[in-house]
Amino acid sequence: MKKLLALAALTGTLMLSQTPDMSGVWRADLTKSKRQGPPVVTYLVLIEQKDAVFNNRTKEQAVQFTDTTGTWGQRGEQRTMLAFFLNGKPKVGSYSGIPTELTGSVDGNKVTVKAEQAGGGSSFTRTYELSADGKTLTMNEDGTNEGRPMHSTIVMDKQDQAAAEPLMKPEEVASVHYKNVKTDALKGLPASQFINTMHYFSWSLGKECTFCHVERKFDSDDKKEKQTARKMIDMVAAINEHNFESKPEVKCFTCHEGNGHPLSHQLFADEIQAAKERAAREAADREAHRPPPPAGAPPPSQH
Ligand code: HEC
Ligand code: HEC
Repeated sequence: MKKLLALAALTGTLMLSQTPDMSGVWRADLTKSKRQGPPVVTYLVLIEQKDAVFNNRTKEQAVQFTDTTGTWGQRGEQRTMLAFFLNGKPKVGSYSGIPTELTGSVDGNKVTVKAEQAGGGSSFTRTYELSADGKTLTMNEDGTNEGRPMHSTIVMDKQDQAAAEPLMKPEEVASVHYKNVKTDALKGLPASQFINTMHYFSWSLGKECTFCHVERKFDSDDKKEKQTARKMIDMVAAINEHNFESKPEVKCFTCHEGNGHPLSHQLFADEIQAAKERAAREAADREAHRPPPPAGAPPPSQH
């Protein structure tokens, strides 16, 4: 037993030691970086690398790489988190609230992660490259979101661990951060997780934010769909509480499967054809009405 533990400890160290050490706090040099989205004043990244269980069934371990990014600007604080394993094997995680298959790998001083959203709506490849002196980290991201290309480069300088403080502070909860959040299930969520939940709703129902929201007035309750969604949030919480010991077994996708109105049966051949034609029409329509991105619109993955 002792031998086994020693071996486990040893392989653990070996796994980590084969990985470039990017752990710590990094601050973007915004003059050298090229990013999409509204301008920010501060861009901080906390990177952690540790051995963790990759496969719950086999107990296989691997190095887990976690990126917690915080930006501060006109829109206040925005946080995003991306976690993946560096063993070259795909694993389904979550990014921006949407189930995403993540495959991480190491090549010399470079860590690469490939991400593909369930349903194939968007995908990206991100690399983190450490300079020889270990003081500069360059993050490059290339991807497509609903067919549109996105690119960003972030050049970051190493900071003292104390610089992580703003990222360690608990975020404001949704009921404080936003004007009109009423459901028990969402009120207490940290603001970034609340927004991730909104991305999840859109993805689950195969709709844009405006399916439930009046354009640019997210706090308004004028749309019937938003009112229905509130009832659905309460319903899902009750189903899980009464049947699944409050574990989130039933979710929006369980019934909706990418549809505004859940299906009652498998589609018939003529319905499949009609659905394909409708989807193509809607996509073309969206593309025609989409304003050109203002010098770097936020990719939805970074809201
Ligand atoms: C399926 C319906 C639905 C979709 C789609 C949806 N939302 Fe929401 N949204 C809601 C509901 C319901 C609430 C209120 C939640 C509550 O009361 O707990 C809400 C609240 C919000 C709020 C808080 C507004 C305030 O100040 O009170 C924001 C911000 C928001 N949504 C953003 C988004 C964004 C961005 C998207 C698209 C990525 C989106 N929502 C997609 C249903 C939806
Ligand atoms: C147990 C199955 C089930 C789950 C889980 C579920 N829904 Fe629904 N949802 C339905 C059904 C069925 C309808 C259609 C009801 C009708 O037409 O009267 C519906 C309708 C809706 C509508 C109205 C659509 C429209 O066209 O007006 C919204 C919005 C909605 N759901 C949001 C959600 C959200 C958000 C979640 C997750 C929090 C969710 N639903 C989870 C079954 C479900």
